Amino acid sequence: MTRHFLRDDDVTPAEQLEILDLAVQVKADRWGRRPLEGPRTVAVIFDKSSTRTRVSFAVGIADLGGSPLIISTANSQLGGKETPADTARVLERMVSAIVWRTYAQSGLEEMAAGTTVPVVNALSDDFHPCQLLADLLTIREHKGRLAGLTVAFVGDGSDNMVHSYLLAGATAGMHVRVAFPEAYPPVAAVVEDARRIAATTGGSIALTHDPREAVAGSDVVVTDTWVSMGREDEKAVRVEALGPYQVTEEMMGAAAADAVFLHCLPADRGFEVAPEVIDGPRSVIWDEAENRLHAQKALLVWLLDHA
Ligand code: CP
Ligand code: NVA
Repeated sequence: MTRHFLRDDDVTPAEQLEILDLAVQVKADRWGRRPLEGPRTVAVIFDKSSTRTRVSFAVGIADLGGSPLIISTANSQLGGKETPADTARVLERMVSAIVWRTYAQSGLEEMAAGTTVPVVNALSDDFHPCQLLADLLTIREHKGRLAGLTVAFVGDGSDNMVHSYLLAGATAGMHVRVAFPEAYPPVAAVVEDARRIAATTGGSIALTHDPREAVAGSDVVVTDTWVSMGREDEKAVRVEALGPYQVTEEMMGAAAADAVFLHCLPADRGFEVAPEVIDGPRSVIWDEAENRLHAQKALLVWLLDHA
């Protein structure tokens, strides 16, 4: 049966580990795997802007011997005139996989339900699972392991990165803490799913409104923009509510001495993170950005293997 990657818990803990191990291999031997030789085409569709996702998928698909077809919904029939299911029925006749950055998670589910080729979530309003594979790879490179580590996300609790950290972190056996203002909590059903997974992996989930409590002793500190794509109109009110959640040097002082800082980028310096932190010695953001390439190549190899 075709496997899709729409949310972080679409893979089991063992499968997540397999994909991360594969990422290490493809990173060490960049052109060693050619499952898309032909070239076979992968469609990469964008309803929202992107730099890293667009480039890392385009380069990664080419590295794997394939041909990336980058589609902007602004000038395609999807996103107005044609349903995700009908679009997928057409694409599957010509492409080997579909990667889609969109708004509603339900669109991705509809597309996956209607097609025989793997569908990959390249960011939705709810999740950013490809980014989490890159983040986990980066954390493992810097810390040597994932299970048992504590990761603190500080900022907008309703962010797609939070939901992905909850699910992917729990899957990896990590202790995931999220500090957020009352007005911007994570989706309760995702928190429940993460808790259920954590109970099987030795991880845990903790929610708080106190950023210092979340960061205390953490191995990894993470944040993301306060104004995700599609929420631009809420900027003033968000900045007001999220002000106390800026990741500062002082806040990083509460983390473990060897803690690392991650941010999926793009970043708003001076808002969710102080420039000294994101541009400081504990920041691993450039490794994290590069690892999008290796992690997604591994994901594609794995999905094509399981197709
Ligand atoms: N982190 C990330 O997904 O970046 P882009 O929006 O540039 O793809
Ligand atoms: N939470 C951000 C991530 C950008 C990569 C957004 O959805 O805009």
